[in-house]
Amino acid sequence: MVIKDYYSLSEAAEVLGKSKETLRRWDRDGKLDAVREPVSNYRVYRKEDINSLIEPLLSEIDNNIDNTEVPLKDYKVLELFAGAGGLAIGLEQSGIKCAALNEIDKWACKTLRENRPKWNVLQGDIKEFSFTKYKNEVEIVTGGFPCQAFSYAGKKLGLEDARGTLFYEFARVVKEVNPLICVGENVKGLLSHDKGKTLQGMISILDEIGYNVVPVQVLKAINYNVPQKRERLILVGIRKDIDVEYEYPTPYNVIYNLSDALKKGELYDKDVPKSEGSKYPEHKIQVLDLVPPKGYWRDLPLDIQKEYMGKSFYLGGGKTGMARRIGWDEPSLTLTCSPAQKQTERCHPDETRPFTVREYARIQTFPDEWKFAGSISQQYKQIGNAVPCNLGKELGYSIIKFLNSVYSKSNKSESSISLAKVV
Ligand SMILES: C[S@@+](CC[C@H](N)C(=O)[O-])C[C@H]1O[C@@H](n2cnc3c(N)ncnc32)[C@H](O)[C@@H]1O
Repeated sequence: MVIKDYYSLSEAAEVLGKSKETLRRWDRDGKLDAVREPVSNYRVYRKEDINSLIEPLLSEIDNNIDNTEVPLKDYKVLELFAGAGGLAIGLEQSGIKCAALNEIDKWACKTLRENRPKWNVLQGDIKEFSFTKYKNEVEIVTGGFPCQAFSYAGKKLGLEDARGTLFYEFARVVKEVNPLICVGENVKGLLSHDKGKTLQGMISILDEIGYNVVPVQVLKAINYNVPQKRERLILVGIRKDIDVEYEYPTPYNVIYNLSDALKKGELYDKDVPKSEGSKYPEHKIQVLDLVPPKGYWRDLPLDIQKEYMGKSFYLGGGKTGMARRIGWDEPSLTLTCSPAQKQTERCHPDETRPFTVREYARIQTFPDEWKFAGSISQQYKQIGNAVPCNLGKELGYSIIKFLNSVYSKSNKSESSISLAKVV
């Protein structure tokens, strides 16, 4: 028996993307016959048999998903907590027009203004702004409000109980502006924040101000053409006079990796441009030099593990972000606001350094032309805070699809829709 013509059970399971148990069942059902390796008597599979199964499995995967949707008319968005514009760019790429953006950080505002001189950037604390001039003027209000706990007076949280929080401001603006749909974006941790009470409070406030909240979903950016394992919680409110369902964007099957982010390929038509970036101190370079791509602190010699990890070494838990080097053939781990943090290290695959500013921007799927204002650390912060543009674009298509249905339904039923009220 020439063993290279055969796959072991584990190898066959990996190649087919099925569990070992499934393969054993296929063997019992006669779908895939195993043979016994003469010396060990282990189950092995003929390569030709496995290959003949791969084709139909590949055709089962629907690679023809297409979420794109052309707007029936000009839809406008008011974008709150806009940052450096990750979500705003994505919405623009989907075909949504930007009516105005609010942001407190002066560097993020500079970024927005320098890249889009025509955008109406309202710089300052959201609490200081009235948005009544946008009432019935925009279809969409979006915003990645920072997550804060509420203090509960009664059982059900009302808008006034949330005063002082940034979610209150988000809801206050939605109430003021009366859009057809509002979309909040947040970290996955909001699901469990204060044992889920914070999220429940937000849902009950949106209900009180006239919005039904679609069951909340956490979207994985890797399913939306983003080469990064970032997750975002999406909170969608639909104005109660509208009888149209919102559907989240369908996830794609193709997963992009770091190579797709930084090298010429399907995502970008050229290699990542050179740019500034922060550096590691010498002692960190010496440690990370010992870690291979896709490796982390466990790949270090034991004495260096202990020295590098300090007390964390004895605390248990995976800590897979420590001394982590990303591999070319995997999506990046979630980028944070600073590229060289001990708990969330993301070292370049070939060189012992953090990602540069432009590499950071690529992993968040910003266009290369989008420039960031401020010091290098301000730039990293703006990029690390952003919704990946490609995820924003897919959200944009899903919003357009929803609004197209709202308007085409009202045309068919010969009733008309105004931004003020569906009649
Ligand atoms: C998670 S980031 C939003 C990222 C943005 N959606 C993007 O895709 O790039 C939250 C933003 O809220 C801004 N922010 C925090 N407090 C604010 C306030 N009181 N008024 C206005 N903006 C505020 C922060 O400066 C930060 O840029």
